[in-house]
Amino acid sequence: MNTLTIRRPDDWHLHLRDGAMLRAVLPETARHFARAIIMPNLVPPVVTGAEAMAYRGRIMTALPEGADFTPLMTLYLTEETDPADLAAAHASGLVTAVKLYPAGATTNSASGVKDFDRVRPVLEKMAEIGCPLCVHGEVTDPDVDIFDREAVFIDQVLDPIRRATPGLRVVMEHITTSDGADYVRSAETGLGATITTHHLIINRNHILVGGIRPHYYCLPVAKRETHRRALRAAATSGDPRFFLGTDSAPHVDAAKETGCGCAGCFTATNTMALLAHVFEEENALDRLEGFTSLHGPAFYGLPPNEATLTLTRSGTPTAFPAKIETGDGPVTLFDPGFPVYWSAP
Ligand code: NCD
Ligand code: ZN
Repeated sequence: MNTLTIRRPDDWHLHLRDGAMLRAVLPETARHFARAIIMPNLVPPVVTGAEAMAYRGRIMTALPEGADFTPLMTLYLTEETDPADLAAAHASGLVTAVKLYPAGATTNSASGVKDFDRVRPVLEKMAEIGCPLCVHGEVTDPDVDIFDREAVFIDQVLDPIRRATPGLRVVMEHITTSDGADYVRSAETGLGATITTHHLIINRNHILVGGIRPHYYCLPVAKRETHRRALRAAATSGDPRFFLGTDSAPHVDAAKETGCGCAGCFTATNTMALLAHVFEEENALDRLEGFTSLHGPAFYGLPPNEATLTLTRSGTPTAFPAKIETGDGPVTLFDPGFPVYWSAP
């Protein structure tokens, strides 16, 4: 029996949803994580400081008694976002970051940005006040192949935005390619990236070979094996520019197992055990704490958590629930497809 004690982790990219779904999935995250960046892609999205305040209230109400969890709120950037409203919400400590979705890039992103020049004043304000921009890095041009959308976004959108807005701190969310990891490494300062648990485990074959597996479908879609290996190398490198953002994105089974299924993998429940497995496989267990608990706070200018989490490795595979029940219907937990011997309390 082995144990590994690390500072309590944070999740720098999380979808908690609202209502019955929020009440069901929040305890899964709060059990292990002390803080999480809460994605604002509700319907309608969380756009203003007042909306973030109300959503934060609903999250706090849904927290289990005695839970030690702080939601770090974000605003959904639209072409109508008011720089003054954002600055006030950031100054008060309510809002930690702003999320940029290219319009139509992913689940509930219809209100996202079409014309990047129209958000220039907001981006300049963010650079001035030190509010990070979290970016969904995929172009939405129908002529660009879905597997190329991250690399094209870096060249056509992200690099121009960063050059035009010196001082803007940017997090490339859920990178899925070696291009993403290389771009992050190319920057001197002010650029970081989150990496999900599932992108360290699956490649595109897992989604498509031997039958279509809707619970492995997420956006950005998993790429070929060389990219998965590049992500593992980045996550386990100890480079502080890479940190955990699970992108745990619950959808009820009825919305996944259908003719046009939603994108999103639900990993909140087993993420820490899966990461211990991955880091052990890479002979990098000593770097797990950096990835899950140190690099993210350093990027966001926050202290690391004082409390700890102890992971345990036992001789028998850990039994994770196949699904969690929600008031909206069952949600299938991400299944790595191999036995995992690690567990977290
Ligand atoms: C996310 C969701 O369901 O909200 N889906 C996903 O596949 N990751 C949206 C997102 O982060 O792209
Ligand atoms: Zn997401």
